Amino acid sequence: MKNLINRRDFLSSAAIVGAAGTILASDKQDVSKHEIQKIRVGIIGCGSVSGVYLPHLTNSPYAEVVSLCDIKSERAEHRANTFHVQNFYPNIEAMLAGVPFDLLVNLTDMQEHGKLNRLALTAKKFVWSEKPMANTYSEGRELHDLAVRSGVRIWGAPAVVNSPQFVYMSQQIQSNALGRVAAAHAHYGHEGPDWSAFFYEKGGGSLPDLGVYNIATITGLLGPAKSLVAMVNVVTPERHVRDKGSIQVIAEDNAMIIMEHQNHALSHIQCGFNYFDPYGHAGTGQDRPTISIVGSEGNMHMIGYDWSPFGVDIQTKSNEKTRREATDAGGYVWEEGASTICEYLATGKEPLINTEHALHVLEIIEAARLSQVEGKRIPLKSTFKWPMRNKP
Ligand SMILES: NC(=O)c1ccc[n+]([C@@H]2O[C@H](COP(=O)([O-])OP(=O)(O)OC[C@H]3O[C@@H](n4cnc5c(N)ncnc54)[C@H](O)[C@@H]3O)[C@@H](O)[C@H]2O)c1
Repeated sequence: MKNLINRRDFLSSAAIVGAAGTILASDKQDVSKHEIQKIRVGIIGCGSVSGVYLPHLTNSPYAEVVSLCDIKSERAEHRANTFHVQNFYPNIEAMLAGVPFDLLVNLTDMQEHGKLNRLALTAKKFVWSEKPMANTYSEGRELHDLAVRSGVRIWGAPAVVNSPQFVYMSQQIQSNALGRVAAAHAHYGHEGPDWSAFFYEKGGGSLPDLGVYNIATITGLLGPAKSLVAMVNVVTPERHVRDKGSIQVIAEDNAMIIMEHQNHALSHIQCGFNYFDPYGHAGTGQDRPTISIVGSEGNMHMIGYDWSPFGVDIQTKSNEKTRREATDAGGYVWEEGASTICEYLATGKEPLINTEHALHVLEIIEAARLSQVEGKRIPLKSTFKWPMRNKP
């Protein structure tokens, strides 16, 4: 990926932020020697996932949550009272015109992401968006370009590449411990959210809600995909959800993708909202592999879900006994993405999570649906810098 801003540019960009008081303009030469103030965060969408983000962000040394927003304004008020946030608003226009902030954290319905992210970028706010960062690949690309023009940046969930288990698996592949990597499988599903209809409406679906994690992990490990075939469908055409009662399911609730990666490895990903999962939506206690990577000299299995893994089982020709490695989470939690971006904005430490990777994942989701409609293999045009490595 072409870096949008290098460290020097970051600091001059930070001076834009600094004009609002986040980083002192006089600190351009050496940020580490000066006190860094917190990045001011505005959160839009105060539903289910905000209850997980807010504890993490309000405990981050790099973030100060200054405003909340929800079109159901009582939700914003409730979260503001619980997490001691001073300002809350009923819509994004009021939020953007209100108390200044640096980073918008978008936790709204999937269908709202593109529109709200565009308004924030136009107002020169950095953006961390829950998945997907836009509703189509071309819209995502436009948002990326708008961010560049506005002198800010946009990033999209998930944060799976931050886990020590992802990093361990990536290192094993890069050090050739598995030999020539040939194949991978990943799966994730549960019985579907029951609180909001948007998961099942046009622009929702199990691919952007669930498959997105496995697609990010598998492409992160095996590299960019160059084409795919997929089938997606609806298994349960009618559902009952808390906000709208009985609804028709429009977006896919069942999906299978086969991808060919640029290095010829083949991967298979399946996801859906009709999977009985004894570990439930929260995945508590899941201790089986959900991601397997097979090579000519060894194989590896990620234990638990990729958004919350707790180990990697590995066997190699030179050591056939199964070993469980990378059992320490090292503080990683799936909800840390926005806090990671605050750390970057405060310190310049470039995150592993990157926009080109999120755009590639978005193109894969769109291509999977196109493959179903057209009944054929779909070539992919996007790519990202791989292997994924933290800068020293
Ligand atoms: N709930 C989870 O466990 C979870 C986990 C990871 C990611 N996510 C992602 O987080 C996002 C939100 O999911 P959720 O489960 O919190 O949904 P939710 O329905 O519980 O909350 C969404 C909130 O956004 C508000 N909203 C919608 N449009 C808005 C707008 N234009 N302006 C302001 N507020 C608006 C809604 O009123 C609602 O309160 C989705 O992208 C989802 O995929 C959810």
